[in-house]
Amino acid sequence: MNTLITDGSDLERAAELLRGGGLVIFPTETVYGLGASAYDARAAYNVFEAKGRPHDNPLIVHVSDPREAENFAYTNELYYRLAGAFMPGPLTLILKKRDNIPPEVTAGGDTVGVRCPSHPVAREFIRLAGVPVAAPSANLSGRPSPTTAAHCIDDMNGRVDAIIDGGECEFGLESTVALITGADSLKILRPGAVTAEALSCVCENVTTSEGLAPGETPLSPGMKYRHYAPKAPLYLLDGERENVISYVKRRLGAGERCLFICYDADAPMFGAAAISLGDEADELLHAHRLFAALRMTDKYGEQNALDAIYTYMPQRDGGISAAIYNRLIRAADHTVIEV
Ligand code: TXA
Ligand code: MG
Repeated sequence: MNTLITDGSDLERAAELLRGGGLVIFPTETVYGLGASAYDARAAYNVFEAKGRPHDNPLIVHVSDPREAENFAYTNELYYRLAGAFMPGPLTLILKKRDNIPPEVTAGGDTVGVRCPSHPVAREFIRLAGVPVAAPSANLSGRPSPTTAAHCIDDMNGRVDAIIDGGECEFGLESTVALITGADSLKILRPGAVTAEALSCVCENVTTSEGLAPGETPLSPGMKYRHYAPKAPLYLLDGERENVISYVKRRLGAGERCLFICYDADAPMFGAAAISLGDEADELLHAHRLFAALRMTDKYGEQNALDAIYTYMPQRDGGISAAIYNRLIRAADHTVIEV
């Protein structure tokens, strides 16, 4: 299949491809999405095939206006309160679905995730499509989510009908996913840029479902898979900053072929082994760069032998740090080294 790659000047053509049952990758403010009509069972099935995604992991449905959720889901007062505060934006709310959303989209479940992205190209594309757009992140299953069109081309060229290039995604981590559990209650299933603190300003009871007990079934199926994984093993180094730095220096000194995902102040000490996430204090920038950094390690590993990747254990001090921790701990398959 030839993939149409467009800079966004050809949105009408891309929307037509989607309406006709095709797969179209589009930019959002979080990560790129791999879209199909949410009313088309076969197209939704093809999304799973193109990504190599397990069929038990539901897709979220994108709208250009929060009110469009009425067409395929049962909304309520809390939904509109949250939509008023955070949509368009990086929040996905799980609602009971109506019958017109086929089970292929929701992996057989009776709920559907609704997201109204704020990216202008995403909103215009969905509006032109004229149907709600089911879309997971546009990576091959198990790889870091794509934050540039080049990442999408690396993973999906030839597997989709079109890729709309909208430049770098602003946040770089996927949306916050939250389940409405009561008239004034929410459970965060996946942390993102809309933080628990922010949600608490609008909703009385906000809980999070981090960390599963052994044998427990996750409410959000995507959380059980090893996600965002780079090809070489990633280790999170937990300890004082000087200890982290001397640990990586020792490994390099012992001849280990490793990369260090670090901050600007560290980079000069590590030369070609350093990939910087930016200034240490700028957590939004770390989020923006994280997946690109993990993909860089894969590119490096294709040319050179690579034994290990190290990075700091992220602080968990509120804000976006919960989302960074959630992605890194999975990318590292929970391997933390105390230093
Ligand atoms: O920012 C984002 O959310 C991006 C962009 C493209 O919008 N999309 C994205 O989709 O990250 P995906 O499929 O990679 O992740 C969606 C997550 C998965 O963990 C999935 O299990 C969960 O949301 N999810 C989707 N529908 C659900 C449902 N009905 N109930 C519980 N969890 C659901
Ligand atoms: Mg994903």
